[in-house]
Amino acid sequence: MTLDAREFRDAMGCFATGITVVTAKSNDGEKVGCTANSFSSVSLDPPLVLWAVAKNANSYDAFMEAKHFAIHVLHAGQENVSRLFATKDVDKFNEIGWTESQDGTPLLDDYSVRLECTTEHIYEGGDHVIIVGRVFEMDNPDVEPLGFYQGKYAKIVTE
Ligand SMILES: Cc1cc2nc3c(=O)[nH]c(=O)nc-3n(C[C@H](O)[C@H](O)[C@H](O)COP(=O)(O)O)c2cc1C
Repeated sequence: MTLDAREFRDAMGCFATGITVVTAKSNDGEKVGCTANSFSSVSLDPPLVLWAVAKNANSYDAFMEAKHFAIHVLHAGQENVSRLFATKDVDKFNEIGWTESQDGTPLLDDYSVRLECTTEHIYEGGDHVIIVGRVFEMDNPDVEPLGFYQGKYAKIVTE
């Protein structure tokens, strides 16, 4: 059976996710950042997480080279940040507050959860590559996260 690409995409959009911005610095010093909802936790001990980067992303080479990266889970007020980091060929870091970690990774000032990671494994994943990171630093101010469902930003309601 051959799947219709549009129908497959729509079906995958029925899995509700949060939204992250993943950042890193390339070997030649360029800061990169990419909006990603492929993020998932993997292991508690050791603390491992994953995300998948598209092979046609401008930031692909930088993430392949980077020994470190940071994952920022966005909060409910950050739709604009999600849009910014999902836009190609703009100076993303000129539009937003950030600082540099000791290892040079750009860290956004605002987030719901921030994870600093070392690149642990890279796996082939079709038109994406799966990056597994080991978390070595974490900050969790515990604010309401931004949701994403069926291609739209969504509010997370808990009971
Ligand atoms: C909600 C949302 C989720 C996304 N998830 C991913 C993802 O998991 N992996 C990915 O490579 N791109 C993802 N993208 C697309 C990238 O954010 C987009 O292609 C971006 O322009 C990449 O930046 P770059 O080309 O500067 O690297 C997502 C976009 C949106 C709006």
